[in-house]
Amino acid sequence: MKKQVLITGGTGFVGRHLTQLLIDNGYNVSVLSRSKKENKPSISYYVWDIKEQFIDEEAVIKADYIIHLAGENIAGSRWTAERKKNIIDSRVTPISLINSVLKKHNKKLDAFISASGVGIYGAITDAKICKENTAAEDDFLGITCQNWEAAADTIASSTNRIVKVRTGLVLGKNGGFLKKMLPIFKWGLGSPLGSGKQYMPWIHIDDLCGIYLLALKKEEMNGAYNATIQDSTTNKEFSKTLTMIVGYKMWFPAVPAFILRLVLGEMAVIVLEGRRVSSSKIEKQGFRFKYINLETAIRSCL
Ligand SMILES: NC(=O)c1ccc[n+]([C@@H]2O[C@H](COP(=O)([O-])OP(=O)(O)OC[C@H]3O[C@@H](n4cnc5c(N)ncnc54)[C@H](OP(=O)(O)O)[C@@H]3O)[C@@H](O)[C@H]2O)c1
Repeated sequence: MKKQVLITGGTGFVGRHLTQLLIDNGYNVSVLSRSKKENKPSISYYVWDIKEQFIDEEAVIKADYIIHLAGENIAGSRWTAERKKNIIDSRVTPISLINSVLKKHNKKLDAFISASGVGIYGAITDAKICKENTAAEDDFLGITCQNWEAAADTIASSTNRIVKVRTGLVLGKNGGFLKKMLPIFKWGLGSPLGSGKQYMPWIHIDDLCGIYLLALKKEEMNGAYNATIQDSTTNKEFSKTLTMIVGYKMWFPAVPAFILRLVLGEMAVIVLEGRRVSSSKIEKQGFRFKYINLETAIRSCL
């Protein structure tokens, strides 16, 4: 019998891509969303209202696996105090809602797999390569990821495994970072941000979804895994590659850090700082990245 995978936030950039991959690999997929949607032949949609603590329990009862992707977009707009609270609450509260259903029905999952971010290592630019046992930082993204992962751990008694996918910058078609950046570069306005020396740990969406698929299949997988290729792409190199691909020479001066801080506020750290991240733990599980060359990865997203 086909295994049932419930994806929270499955309507988003990663979720849509992952849904198709799972269907292609013989899974049934259900999606928890804040709005009602028409079911499709291999996708059932369920509704929840996190603020009202409402969840269609059937979604959880029928699931063998849950993949938790839902959460307010981190780079959506300035980090006001209210937005910061929503960013954390929209990732943590859904887990306690799911957990209450699991407990109520005495149900045990094959695995609970949650997104997390490489932001757990902090918005810092230095030479260190962060592994899964590197200490978390206490800046906003670090705290967000720590709360998110700690919430995932509360599912422990209702699941055989918990996997946390510490995701880097996802490159794919029709979403994420490239959707925002490509138009700017296509207008010939692309340039490095700040010093341009900050690292940009990236991953192609096919590889990210491949890691989620591996986490479903591989019973040895437990705990946190970095999901990003281990290279040392800097923001300047990224911008140069993107400019070359869209057919310009980079002529626009680097955007000064103070302007970015003025426009984006505290959120500017997302683009002004970045760490190098190790991928050895996931590779030891047998995962092989399809995209390790930035130019090839970006070209596949056009
Ligand atoms: N994309 C990246 O580069 C990247 C990098 C690191 C980590 N991640 C993490 O990976 C996960 C998936 O990323 P993504 O790019 O697919 O995100 P996305 O496109 O923004 O999709 C997230 C989904 O979460 C739901 N959602 C949005 N706001 C919510 C709220 N306030 N409360 C509850 N649900 C909400 C939405 O589904 P409904 O409207 O159907 O409810 C949305 O489709 C996210 O948690 C993200 O933080 C992504």
